[in-house]
Amino acid sequence: MSDRYAVFGHPIGHSKSPRIHRLFAEQTGQDLQYDAWDVPAERFEAALAEFLATGGRGLNCTVPLKELAFHAAARLTDRARRACAVNTLALETDRKLVGDNTDGSGLLRDLRDNLGLRLEGKSILILGAGGAVRGILQPLLEANPGRLLIANRTAARAEQLAGEFAALGPVAACGFERLLAEAGFELILNATAASLSGQLPPLGDALLLPGGCCYALAYASAPTPFVEWGRNHGAALSVDGIGMLVEQAAEAFQLWRGVRPATAPVIRLLNAERGWS
Ligand code: ATR
Repeated sequence: MSDRYAVFGHPIGHSKSPRIHRLFAEQTGQDLQYDAWDVPAERFEAALAEFLATGGRGLNCTVPLKELAFHAAARLTDRARRACAVNTLALETDRKLVGDNTDGSGLLRDLRDNLGLRLEGKSILILGAGGAVRGILQPLLEANPGRLLIANRTAARAEQLAGEFAALGPVAACGFERLLAEAGFELILNATAASLSGQLPPLGDALLLPGGCCYALAYASAPTPFVEWGRNHGAALSVDGIGMLVEQAAEAFQLWRGVRPATAPVIRLLNAERGWS
């Protein structure tokens, strides 16, 4: 029987992870099975036990399970510990689970390697201050931006995060009300849970520097209002996180199988299938 892998989450019906990992397996000649399991939070422990008892070797965890996966890991990578969240679990030879978080490095690989952005010295704005933001702050600050502002509907959550990560770089926080007065960001990352449902925070017209980049961490079949906003406000690039999704998956695949798949053909295929160039 081939080694078993899976993504756990709830809802999980629209997850592209099985498709991506099967494409990786085909491309690298790895014999493995990868399935999507619909696992609400209250069933996480039982589902994990069942998965491991039936040959499970590695797991991706998505909403709402990343914190539970963090607590299920016997060992953690530094970046998972910093993120307080785990999106990848791997069963090691001693049958202990190691927890990693590949979201941040997936984002950085997409921004730098796929989209060709240089972050050093740049002004970056992040919308949102939830778990997704906690997972990307360390790699973003390690890229040495000139300024990183976290804006959140609930300002206190942004301030809490900025305080926690202050030692790593020039990070500040504010509430959404300040966004109408702010200007000149070269990169705006939308990491609010509302980015898919279409609600946009009040964004001033000068918020994005002409020729800058708008990037939504979530992905959708059609351009969201945030991606449209970027396109209408002079962005050279206004995209969603399909590349980040593929890159975080590649990093998990490498952890499990010791081989790094090529991501560009998979991103191209997924974009072609949804009609994005
Ligand atoms: P995730 O793991 O996706 O980051 P989360 O930790 O629940 O999820 O965080 C959700 C983020 O989306 C938060 O920044 C939240 O803002 P609050 O901290 O003010 O709740 C943001 N968010 C959710 N719904 C939103 C809405 N309708 N408008 C603006 N921001 C919203």
